[in-house]
Amino acid sequence: MLVFSTETSCDETSVCIMKEDKTILSHIVYSQTVHTKHGGVVPELASRAHLEILQQITKDALKESGIQLNEVDLFSATCGPGLIGGLLIGSTFTKSLSIGNRKPFIPINHLEAHILSSFYNNEIKFPHLSLLITGGHTQIYFLKNYNNIKLIGETVDDAVGEAFDKVAKILGLSYPGGPEIEKKALKGNENYFKLPQPLINENNLNFSFSGLKTSVNLIAKKSIINQSFINDMSASFQKCIGTILTLKLNRAIKKLYNDNNRNLSVSVVGGVANNDYIKKCFKGIEEREAIKLIYPPKYMMNDNAAMIAWATILKHR
Ligand code: KG4
Ligand code: ZN
Repeated sequence: MLVFSTETSCDETSVCIMKEDKTILSHIVYSQTVHTKHGGVVPELASRAHLEILQQITKDALKESGIQLNEVDLFSATCGPGLIGGLLIGSTFTKSLSIGNRKPFIPINHLEAHILSSFYNNEIKFPHLSLLITGGHTQIYFLKNYNNIKLIGETVDDAVGEAFDKVAKILGLSYPGGPEIEKKALKGNENYFKLPQPLINENNLNFSFSGLKTSVNLIAKKSIINQSFINDMSASFQKCIGTILTLKLNRAIKKLYNDNNRNLSVSVVGGVANNDYIKKCFKGIEEREAIKLIYPPKYMMNDNAAMIAWATILKHR
């Protein structure tokens, strides 16, 4: 069985052709560059960029994999959540291919695909906990099995990736801000600025990041933004995020342990999971709870069509 999938929910235009045994025949991720100078994704520009490139990368993927469209057995696309323009373009394009080739079309939920991405390279046993940290979402899910996925905590305002991107913009760094802040933080003093840790003392699994961003903004307005300020603020902000995520993830694991889920497996997925400093913070949880955190392969952390194809195969099974 061959699967053809697209992902267009934000600012990555991506296609993947995957075999049922999960071999990737072609995987193309085009990261749109039009947003860099705006410090964030401009939805209308994203839609136009998807439209411009999607047919070309489909042709490139077919060429690379050496298959014809009429050999594809299943078509799938991200159908939500995401920016509506991009979702409409990707899903309409892929549905048209499925109708034209008289093959089924499977709609895929973007968040479910992120969650299942860590199942691609790991043998995962249920019950499972997944911390999803992206530019649009910050959520904790509890999975009893593939069909029983429960949201047990989430951000009440900004997503953690969004906070990275907004703080980067305040510091004059380019979009996407996460990797930029991680780089600058290497040269900074993480104890220089004391930043607020919203909701940290509340006994729940929710997050809040908008106050943190405002606090960075207020300090920046009163300061000279030079290299040492950027480095110290990046390090202090990243430390604050690392502390919050570690505390809430540890709390979620403890809660599920107490609810009789001692054999819990735990994954961290989404673009922010690329951050090595945050991963290092999570090492403490691994030691304390005698647990090994699971991550997807690097190419499935940011938005990509391989995770959509993989979710399609799991759904088909
Ligand atoms: O999963 P993703 O590609 O898209 C969404 O579904 O949102 O995540 C993108 C987010 C962006 O906010 C980006 O700044 C963040 O992931 N990100 C990082 C790093 N790499 C990407 N955040 C922190 N550190 C990183 N190294
Ligand atoms: Zn995503």
